[in-house]
Amino acid sequence: MQAFKIHHIGYLVKKMEKAQKTFVSLGYQIEQETVYDSIRDVTICFLQKDGYRIELVSPVSENSVAAGLLKKYKNCPYHICYEANDYETAAASLSAAGFLAIDTPTEAPAMGRRKVVFFSSPAIGMVELLLP
Ligand code: NI
Repeated sequence: MQAFKIHHIGYLVKKMEKAQKTFVSLGYQIEQETVYDSIRDVTICFLQKDGYRIELVSPVSENSVAAGLLKKYKNCPYHICYEANDYETAAASLSAAGFLAIDTPTEAPAMGRRKVVFFSSPAIGMVELLLP
């Protein structure tokens, strides 16, 4: 298995501003202010604490994929994002570990337009790969 470096932990939240304030009150610092991702119809911001990076993801409309996830899971961490040097190698590693691709590599406006892709495992749920 390829050793992936953790980039962030993705956290679903219903109310972005309230969630951000709550994390800040716990000592997190805002790394990147809230931006709108029109591809996924969500707002996203990044916070950091003790070397950990949290991504807050909040659906903007009912049409957002994140709206369905939020209904199901409520406010909660829901994916870990790993940095991959190479998509094919990383996808093969995940596939060998029982993961199935949920989508195809798609631009992430909140991450400098680098591409991300989601996989799911019946054992541990969703992971995200961040491509170079
Ligand atoms: Ni993420």
